[in-house]
Amino acid sequence: MADKVKVAILGGGGIMGAHMQGFPKVKDHCELVAVAESNPGRDEAIRKMVGPDVRIVRDYHEALAIPEVQAVDILLPHNLHMPATIAAARAGKHVLVEKVMGRNVWECDRMIEACEKAGVTLTICHDRRYNGEWMTLKDIVESGVLGDVFFWKLDHNQDVVLPPTSWAHWKDGIGGGCIMSCLTHQIDGLRWYAGEVDAVTCLSATRPERMQGEFAGILAAKLKSGALAELSINWWTRSHHGANCLWYEMVQACGTRGEAYRMSGRGTFVRLHEADTAAIKRYGPAVKDGFVKVEGGEWGGHERCIREWVAMLRGEPARITTSGRDCRGTVEVAEAAYRSVDTGRTVKLPIRPRKWKSVGMPESLQGIAAAKTNYHVDVGSRKSS
Ligand SMILES: NC(=O)c1ccc[n+]([C@@H]2O[C@H](COP(=O)([O-])OP(=O)(O)OC[C@H]3O[C@@H](n4cnc5c(N)ncnc54)[C@H](O)[C@@H]3O)[C@@H](O)[C@H]2O)c1
Repeated sequence: MADKVKVAILGGGGIMGAHMQGFPKVKDHCELVAVAESNPGRDEAIRKMVGPDVRIVRDYHEALAIPEVQAVDILLPHNLHMPATIAAARAGKHVLVEKVMGRNVWECDRMIEACEKAGVTLTICHDRRYNGEWMTLKDIVESGVLGDVFFWKLDHNQDVVLPPTSWAHWKDGIGGGCIMSCLTHQIDGLRWYAGEVDAVTCLSATRPERMQGEFAGILAAKLKSGALAELSINWWTRSHHGANCLWYEMVQACGTRGEAYRMSGRGTFVRLHEADTAAIKRYGPAVKDGFVKVEGGEWGGHERCIREWVAMLRGEPARITTSGRDCRGTVEVAEAAYRSVDTGRTVKLPIRPRKWKSVGMPESLQGIAAAKTNYHVDVGSRKSS
C-alpha cells in the first residue's frame, strides 16, 4: 500500500468527532481525502474538523467513486452499514465500520462475504477493545490473578430520546433498539474478556415516546466456560450526570482468587483475596485489603482503533482485535436476545441467520439521517463527561 493510506469517511454525523481524535495522530501515515455527508447542515462542523483541503461530497457512493481512496471509515446509520460495506468492497476499498457491525447476523454475513470476495479487509470499530482502561481490565483477567472468573456484570446507562425524525428512532434504522445499538458495547466486551456465549435470556421494555424499539433491557447469559453474566442497559437515566453520580458504564469480573472492575470516570481496579509476592509487587500491598487502581495509558478507544487500523493497512505490526468475523458474534448475541424476548425462552447459540424483516420506517430516513442523536461517547476517565 502507498506510503500514506488514502481514506474517506462515510457519514459525518455525531461520532465523526471521536474518529477525528484519531486521524490527526496518524497524519504522517494516512491522508483523509473526502467526507461523504448527505446533510449540508453538517458542512461547517466537518470543515472545522478536517480543514480546507478535504472534499465534502453528498452521498457515500460519490466517495467510493474517488479512485485514490483506498479505504473507508463507515459512520453511517446502522441500516446502511451492510449496503455501504458491500459497495465499498466492490469498489476495492478496505473497510472500517463503526459499531454496531450490522442489524443482524445475516447482514454481517453478507458484509464478510463481500469483503472476502473482493480481497479487502473488514474491521469493526468496537472502540472499547482499544480503550486504555478496558484494555487494562483485559490484561488483569488474562494474567490469571483473579483465578477462575465465574461471574460478570456489565452495564450501560444513558439518557437517550430519539425523535421520529432520527433514523435511530426506528427499529429498521437502528436494528432493534438500545440492546443492538449500545448493549453491544457490553456484549462485545464480555466476549473479548470471557469468551463465547452459550445461551441468553432477555427481557426488555419499550416506551414509544422515546423510540420504537426497546429503551431498556436485561440480559442473562451463560458462557461456554460455565461463567454467568448479567448485562443491562437503561436509556432513561441521568445516573451518570451531576453531583454524586453513579456511572455511565461498568464492568465487573469476579473470580475465585480476586475481582476487578472498570468504571467510567474512575478507571480500572483490582483486589485479590490473598495477594502473593508477585501480585503485591505488581499492584502494591493494598491489593489484598481493598481495590487498587491500575493505570492503563492515555489513549481513548476510537483514536487507538484508527491508529491500529492504519498500521494494519500499511502492513505494519498492529493490534487489531475486531475483525468482521469476530464481531459478527457480538451481533449474534444481541439478535439471540431479541429472539429470547420474542419467545419468552432461553436461546442457545449459534442461531440461524434470518434476513432483516422491515417493520416500516419513513422513506425519507432510509438513506439519510435527519436528526441529531445525543449518545454519550465514552473516552475513559481522562476526558469523560
Ligand atoms: N462508539 C460509540 O460510543 C458511539 C457513539 C455514538 C454513535 N456511534 C455509532 O456511530 C454510527 C453513526 O452514529 P451517529 O450518532 O454519528 O449518527 P448521526 O445520525 O449523527 O450520523 C450519521 C450521518 O450519516 C449521514 N448519512 C446518512 N445517509 C448518508 C448517505 N447516503 N451518504 C452520506 N451520509 C449519509 C447522516 O446525514 C448523518 O449525519 C452508528 O454506527 C452508531 O452506533 C458509536
